[in-house]
Amino acid sequence: MKKDLRHSFNAAIRPVRSQDLDAIEKIENDGYTGVDRYPRELLEGYLEASRENPDVVMLIAGDSAGYVLGEITGDDRHGEIIDLAVMKQHRGQGLGRDLLERVSTSLRDLGAAEILLYVRTDNAAAIHLYETAGFEKTKDMPGYYQDGDGMQMTKRFKPAGPG
Ligand SMILES: CC(C)(COP(=O)(O)OP(=O)(O)OC[C@H]1O[C@@H](n2cnc3c(N)ncnc32)[C@H](O)[C@@H]1OP(=O)(O)O)[C@@H](O)C(=O)NCCC(=O)NCCS
Repeated sequence: MKKDLRHSFNAAIRPVRSQDLDAIEKIENDGYTGVDRYPRELLEGYLEASRENPDVVMLIAGDSAGYVLGEITGDDRHGEIIDLAVMKQHRGQGLGRDLLERVSTSLRDLGAAEILLYVRTDNAAAIHLYETAGFEKTKDMPGYYQDGDGMQMTKRFKPAGPG
């Protein structure tokens, strides 16, 4: 039964377009409060960057159900997941996992050997999702958020074998 539930919301996941800014802002406002919420200007900056720079990956699901933002960064060109959010009414149906998988695959295809992210230590849903998607805690980040602790999690890809 659990399996059926997880696949009950088959949202098409695609790269964002300029006209998706309102939807992304709505998803962001539904997913976060206070200091955790990215302002519209920042979201707009990432959205435009993702359309010009292949190292910035921004995907939206079901036109307004959820979105994910990742990028390739640093001299070592590692991946980072900057944001992942699903509208409350669409949660628990596997969409967060699908978005995470899609962005991880894109970052890997762009050459990332590992992907980092930061998460609040009390965000049980996100931590469960990341752990079951192959991320491990790599650093405690006390006081990382203005009002709480965070941690760094990392997923390392196995180097491709010979042949
Ligand atoms: C984190 C988030 C994106 C997950 O989205 P989602 O679409 O509900 O995720 P999924 O349906 O793919 O579920 C992922 C897993 O989390 C589990 N989960 C959901 N809510 C949970 C909770 N409160 N506690 C523990 N696990 C939970 C699900 O059971 C599922 O695990 P399973 O596949 O082993 O059953 C969503 O909760 C969200 O948008 N939160 C607000 C924004 C946020 O905190 N983003 C992460 C910032 S680092």
